[in-house]
Amino acid sequence: MTTYREFHRRSIEQPEAFWGEQAKLIDWRQPFSKVLDYSRPPFAKWFVGGVTNLCHNAVDRHLKDRADQSALIFISTETGANRTYTFRELHAEVNRCAAVLREQGIGKGDRILIYMPMIPEAAFAMLACVRLGAIHSVVFGGFAAHSLASRIDDAKPKLMFTADAGMRGGKPIIYQALVADAIRLSRHPPQKVVIVNRGIDQNLKLVAGRDLDYASLRDRHLSAQVPVTWLESSEPSYILYTSGTTGKPKGVQRDTGGHAVALAASMRYIYCGKPGETMFTTSDIGWVVGHSYIVYGPLIYGMASVMYEGLPIRPDPGIWWKIVAEHKVTVMFSSPTAIRVLKKQDPAHLRKYDVSSLRNLFLAGEPLDEPTARWISDALRVPVIDHYWQTETGWAILSSMPGVEATPTKFGSPSFPAYGYNVKLLHEGSGQELGANEKGVVTVEPPLPPGCMTTVWGQDERFVQTYFTSFKDRLTYTTFDWGIRDDDGYYFILGRTDDVINVAGHRLGTREIEEAVSGHPDIAEVAVVGVADQLKGQVPMAFAVVKDATKVATAEGRRVLEKEVFDVVDKALGAIGRPARVHFVTLLPKTRSGKVLRRSIQALAEDRDPGDLTTLDDPTGIEQVRAAIASMRAN
Ligand code: PRX
Repeated sequence: MTTYREFHRRSIEQPEAFWGEQAKLIDWRQPFSKVLDYSRPPFAKWFVGGVTNLCHNAVDRHLKDRADQSALIFISTETGANRTYTFRELHAEVNRCAAVLREQGIGKGDRILIYMPMIPEAAFAMLACVRLGAIHSVVFGGFAAHSLASRIDDAKPKLMFTADAGMRGGKPIIYQALVADAIRLSRHPPQKVVIVNRGIDQNLKLVAGRDLDYASLRDRHLSAQVPVTWLESSEPSYILYTSGTTGKPKGVQRDTGGHAVALAASMRYIYCGKPGETMFTTSDIGWVVGHSYIVYGPLIYGMASVMYEGLPIRPDPGIWWKIVAEHKVTVMFSSPTAIRVLKKQDPAHLRKYDVSSLRNLFLAGEPLDEPTARWISDALRVPVIDHYWQTETGWAILSSMPGVEATPTKFGSPSFPAYGYNVKLLHEGSGQELGANEKGVVTVEPPLPPGCMTTVWGQDERFVQTYFTSFKDRLTYTTFDWGIRDDDGYYFILGRTDDVINVAGHRLGTREIEEAVSGHPDIAEVAVVGVADQLKGQVPMAFAVVKDATKVATAEGRRVLEKEVFDVVDKALGAIGRPARVHFVTLLPKTRSGKVLRRSIQALAEDRDPGDLTTLDDPTGIEQVRAAIASMRAN
């Protein structure tokens, strides 16, 4: 491990020399004058004075050597569409899209909200935005009106880029109904909505003066050449909202130069891709994994990227391996939940395909259990690399780095701190640094490396308060995750320290779900907790106090109200936030100071010891939770 250790040590002790070298992996229009400006902690500015552009690095610069090589391989098992774009074709489409946006008055610093299914136009729009210096904020297509509206109100986009509909498991999801609701709920609705009409929503009606049909606009700009808007390294490239402790999602802001350098370096040292090869990341452009490794990372590195619209088991559970075989994928990135879904299927589907092109399978987003890791590494006969990171960091905090040194992996561990991250395990209360085998909070000594969030959009103070003030008298970045390190230096992640839950690798805030449930007029109060689930890792479970208890006096009454609550959540957040169950109680367990004992509720729901209950105000609350869970188990 000496090579890795030395590499990591150098990145921490000589960050300027280390990152100055990595910066050569991308094109700069003008060189930077200083690698790091850390004069205003914890705000770090990387590659100060350097001028560059993400779209240039992801697209234009490849025209010289690889114009006719595949860049974006779009495969939809939902509609049957298949289309590969070379770098030349991608360049043309991005220019067309940029011309459309420019014609609508979009320029540097303007925000564009992208609410799109997994179709190529979503990637064109992202790249077109960064080409113009506009700031995109992609909202996951599985989110519904309320989530969309709160992001609109925070980012205040001039324009929304969307589609008539998405498809999931063969069923259309009509986006325009959700968009209309979100615009109605929003205080700062976008002036223009550009709609990619896939022909799925037969009833699509454009609102005059606001809605524009993308195909007609594009037709006017078929040979457009839109010059790149060059940006200083620290200027923002995008905002991506993520959940935290409060009900209000935070706009994670990413810079330009640091982001490009970090992704390029990760392609080399972590993912070990090579220009000209193909990467397949099974996430969605609405999540950070999709931003970094469906769009920017592989393209910046000159690789082709597979963009897949569909489920992993349709038309059959061999579909991903078929894609790997047909496109000779060398780097694959997926999530533990997806692999658990595949594990339940007939392994013959996997054996049917030649997946020998794969070098490694990377998994992230949630804890990877040993049986799943073993199953997939045996089946594929390639190393499975569990790595750990967050929306905030944009790339891996902990990982094995085969491009630096092929260190052995341990099941259940995302290995070691990636270069650039000075990771420390700290005692939650005292902030003291912990040694091997002691459970603590996973933290990073700032400055955060290039590519990490630079601030919370429009709220510098919130950035500092939320992430850097957990420990007294010093600025330390907290990940809000518990972790432990073994004697060999391998880290293990043990769950969140806050109220964030992880459902099938999707990060959700329990407070957001609570707010959505409270939107039902019969609900007085609710607590939502994440409960361990074999397939999805965790699922949300709600314990709700009803205003009029007679409504839930019968099993039928409970069933009806539970269904109504599901519908309210589906409408507000999307099915992704829907609780697995809603239990009705007349009282929630609270401390005398009125704090809901979420950790005790969660422990009971997972059949564990609820812990210290001496601070309880009224024991009836916890008894009701216990009874509700017992009755669920009995049925
Ligand atoms: O709790 C950790 C968990 O997912 C959180 C970050 O989620 P998100 O912002 O959606 O970013 C995902 C990027 C891959 C973390 O705070 N998490 C992520 N990776 C792992 C993980 N938990 C355990 N093991 C992992 N490999």
